[in-house]
This record gives sequence, C-alpha cells and structure tokens, in this order.
Amino acid sequence: MINALSYVVVQTPHLDAWIAQARHHVGLHVDVVEPGVCVRLRADEKVQRLLVSACEGESSMGMGFGVLDAAALENTRQALEDAGYPTTAGTAEELRLRGVEGMVHFTDADGVRLEVAYGLADAETAFVPGRPLGGFRTGDMGLGHVALITEHFDELSHLYRNVLGFKVSDHTQAPFRVEFLHCNPRHHTLGLAYTGGPAKIYHLMLEYNDFDDVGRAYDMALVNPECIGVTLGRHINDHVTSFYLKNPDGWMFELGWASRTVGPDWGVEELQGMSLWGHDRTWLPDDKREEARQILKRLADQGVRAPVVTTAQTAKAKQ
Ligand SMILES: [Fe+2]
Repeated sequence: MINALSYVVVQTPHLDAWIAQARHHVGLHVDVVEPGVCVRLRADEKVQRLLVSACEGESSMGMGFGVLDAAALENTRQALEDAGYPTTAGTAEELRLRGVEGMVHFTDADGVRLEVAYGLADAETAFVPGRPLGGFRTGDMGLGHVALITEHFDELSHLYRNVLGFKVSDHTQAPFRVEFLHCNPRHHTLGLAYTGGPAKIYHLMLEYNDFDDVGRAYDMALVNPECIGVTLGRHINDHVTSFYLKNPDGWMFELGWASRTVGPDWGVEELQGMSLWGHDRTWLPDDKREEARQILKRLADQGVRAPVVTTAQTAKAKQ
C-alpha cells in the first residue's frame, strides 16, 4: 500500500512569499516551472517535493502519497473505490508537473485533496539548497510528516489505517486527541488531531540532517517572532527537536532534526503528552496552553528524558 509521503501540492495566493520563505528560510531548492504561476520546491534529488501554484482566493494543501508501482496504484485505487472514495485519474499535465508516472486523486472527509502516485522522478540537476545547509532527511522515510486537524477523526483514522494500510505508532488524549500513524521507518508520516476546532492543515515536518540548521532557522525566525507558531522543543514520541514556522498561508512548517525510526517490533503507546520540553503552542486557547504547561512540568518532575539517535553526519563529512 502507501509507502511514503512523496510530495505535497499547494495552491496559494502568496506565491512570491512562498518562494522567498522556501529558499531563504527553510533552505529548499526552488525550480521555477512558470514565473508567477508555478514552482517546484526540492528537498533532495527528486524533481519536486512541494508543487506550489498561484491561485486567487483561498489557499489549499494536498498530499501526494507514494506507492511502489502501477500494480500497487491500481490496488490502492480499487481499495479506495470499495471503501466509498471515488477516485479520478491524474491528467497528463498533472503527471508532468509532479514528475510522476501515474497518479489518482480523491478527497477526504474534511475536503483535503489526497493523491496516490508512483514513479516520482529524479531531477536532471543536483540538489542545491537555498541557503548553506546539510540537506534534508528523506529517502525511504519520505518527505516528512503532515499533521491535520480534522473534524472527522474516526473517518480519517479508518481511511488511513484500514484502506491505505498505515499502522498506529501511538496516541494521546491530552492536551487534545491525537493519533500518529506510520507507513515506513519514519515514526509517523501522519498525525490526526481533534481539537474541537475546524479542520485545517496543521503542519508539514521537514527534517534537517544537521541540528545546526534547525538552530539557524530559529535564529532567523526570532527576527520576526510572530512567525513562530510553536517554540523550540522536543517531541515525546518521535524525539524530534524542532520549532514551527508559520508559512504565508497560515499553516506551518515544523523544522526538525533527529527523528527516531520504528520497525516491525514497534508497540503502540499511550503518550503522556506531546513534548518532553518546550513547544509552547502560541495558537492554543489559554486553558489548553496551561494544560500543556502542566504536562511539561509533570514530565520534568519525573525526569523523563529520551536518547538522541542521529544517522546523518553531513557536517562531519564536509569538513
Ligand atoms: Fe510534527
């Protein structure tokens, strides 16, 4: 079934601001497809990882999930149809812009566009980050992870687990209900949250190979603190150290480092919270923010800590 988050598709009325932030702050490689109309943002050797197009009015974000080949795409398409999700085949133009060999798309219960694709091509040119950095951790772990705030928690959980083949990593009830799901060694490729608020894209996590690149992105964000949606902190489950940067459309990039991986022996856990320390969610209502503070205080009093496991050594390799 699904083996990774391959790419995301963005429609935005703020294309120029997207390009500036992607290149200079996040450090992605910007390939202009058509000036003022469409850009491909690259995080690695692939032809695109975010396809960003200009639109009028409301912005949107959809996800492109990867499958192995044409047969896997057909199996997934059939499973979606059987589960009551009508699918539409991608047009030749959609395939060309994404650099994929085959794709179908459908819409989830919150109205989010989901694509399933295979054959995401390598670019013809080398990856050149938009600012000096050690690259992004992708490969068999895919682009990163997405967290959604949903109004249809049970329906989306069923879709991802029982139709698309994701497995539960862990879950929590506080400070709000969240389920984390994986489809490859990345601890989670998807987070589903129910906060009682309206459905929206919460964030896309991109993982740097080097810790210093998180710190530099945080330095840049501190120049304009309103762009920080969640302060620097460390997650209790995937062990990512990160902060959250608001993008021009109001949802966020989580810029992180050193996520842990999961294997077949993984056991589902009920989490004691969302973060080991930090991660003050500036967007939460006051009562939920205070609840999160109390959870952090409890974890601190208990002395809960987690090991740091790194795999990337780009800084060392380049010296
Ligand atoms: Fe995250």
